[in-house]
Amino acid sequence: MEELKRFVELPNGDKMPVLGLGTAHATSNEETEMIFKAIVECGYRHIDTASRYDNEEIIGNALKKAFEHGIDRKEMFIVTKAWMTELDDPVAALKKSLQKLQLDSVDLYLIHWPMVLKQVDGKYVRNPIPMYKVWQGMEACVKEGLAKNIGVSNFNFQLLNDLLSYCEIRPVCNQIELNPYNIQRPLVAWLQSEGIHPVAYSPLGISSLVQNEDDQVLKNKEVIALAEKYGKTPGQILLNWGLSVGHIVIPKSTNPTRMKENFTAQDFRLSKEDVERLDKINKKLKIYCDIVQTSFSKEFPAFA
Ligand code: A2P
Repeated sequence: MEELKRFVELPNGDKMPVLGLGTAHATSNEETEMIFKAIVECGYRHIDTASRYDNEEIIGNALKKAFEHGIDRKEMFIVTKAWMTELDDPVAALKKSLQKLQLDSVDLYLIHWPMVLKQVDGKYVRNPIPMYKVWQGMEACVKEGLAKNIGVSNFNFQLLNDLLSYCEIRPVCNQIELNPYNIQRPLVAWLQSEGIHPVAYSPLGISSLVQNEDDQVLKNKEVIALAEKYGKTPGQILLNWGLSVGHIVIPKSTNPTRMKENFTAQDFRLSKEDVERLDKINKKLKIYCDIVQTSFSKEFPAFA
């Protein structure tokens, strides 16, 4: 069987590694060393952050250290995202992110959620800016050389279909929650038919935040059976499944052993039959919105 490919080529020729490091939990200063090691010891070249994670400075310091160690900037694929309150001016938002990241440009800049809001007295309220205006701001990031590529996150078919009708620069990806309990196959198939890469966040099912064992895909008996069959961990089975069905996966970990475990999930291949076996455990379970009450959804209940 052919090996899994390590990169996808974007329309501008950039190569995006298909396995990246999610960093939403990496918020303490000691993570600098962890992310540095993820790059130089494990081999991660794709790092996913966001202004909302409040860790761009940490990532910036880790990158600086990696560059000093001899890693070439061109090898790295750095992704950050504009939060909903920044969508009135993506160029200004990205400039702030770049300063924290200590970079001249990012490889990919995303709209984090398709809602334009502002904060008034600590509360989120609607900011009446249409998405086509936001996208013009995202395109300006490319035109000004601040972002090599742009994309979206948490967009549904309807919004993205609309965006494709007016965009001048197409989004290269849609980052959404994907794992075998939430395969979103019709949306994924459509994205792929449009040449928009599905990027899977929470490809392991945000294990620590899901209380009910039945909802933890890492504990699913098919996943465990396949882990035994292939001599791999359940996490590696889930990531390999994602890669096999064409997702770009960005598992989060702040633990060095699991970072390595996750990175080597691309070193084997599930058979076609076993990939299909995992497709069948789908429960349409959207952990992030349906189970985890985020601080944001408490402030803006219409979101959930
Ligand atoms: P830790 O940072 O201690 O490794 P997701 O990417 O689905 O949001 O998952 C993130 C959660 O999954 C984190 O709590 C992380 O904890 C944990 N995790 C990361 N990799 C693995 C793995 N290979 N097996 C089990 N849990 C993992």
